[in-house]
Amino acid sequence: MIIAVDGPTASGKGTLARQLAAHFGLPVLDTGLLYRAVGYQTQLNHGDPDNAADALAACDFPDSLLDDPALRFESTGSLASRASVHPAVRAALFQRQVDFANQPGGAVLDGRDIGTVIAPHADAKLFVTASPEERARRRHAEMRARGVDISFDAVLADVHARDARDTGRADAPLMRASDAMLLDNTDMDRDAALAAALAFVEERRKARP
Ligand code: C5P
Repeated sequence: MIIAVDGPTASGKGTLARQLAAHFGLPVLDTGLLYRAVGYQTQLNHGDPDNAADALAACDFPDSLLDDPALRFESTGSLASRASVHPAVRAALFQRQVDFANQPGGAVLDGRDIGTVIAPHADAKLFVTASPEERARRRHAEMRARGVDISFDAVLADVHARDARDTGRADAPLMRASDAMLLDNTDMDRDAALAAALAFVEERRKARP
């Protein structure tokens, strides 16, 4: 069974993907981490993530980079968002994600274009979202808990900027697949969001031929 989990930044899709993977005993791939590695490697190369050739050159980042805590930084998310705009970068990362999705037994993948581009044949697709203000509030609380001194307004501005870039790009923009369940968790806690997602996936699983 393949489960595709897409959605904007700070929507809780990563947490939900990991919970679904644990529940169904499936491997999980956070595809954002691949784009983060490209963005970060571009910086390590002293390149410019807005430059397609620089970003493409960073696609052969070493696998060990995926364990670097710097990939989780907010600043790396912005580098990733800029590098991921280039079609050549998306093409370079394409097969790795497709192979992960199509492994025997299935998988859970979370990202922006899983249900639309990477695994359009997924058995269950979820589009996880929340209002920009709620996503910024969560991200701000999480950053403050880690000791990062940043204002709510700065976090909200970054959420808006990333949304605009991710939904506005020409190649594989962030959008809900027509057969994806819309899971708006603005007013839901994590347990309620997981329960709604599980009910949907179970229903799709039963409907499979
Ligand atoms: O999900 P995460 O915030 O880690 O992703 C970082 C950035 O990588 C996103 O803002 C998006 O621009 C890009 N991305 C993408 N396609 C994916 C996953 C992430 O373009 N499947």
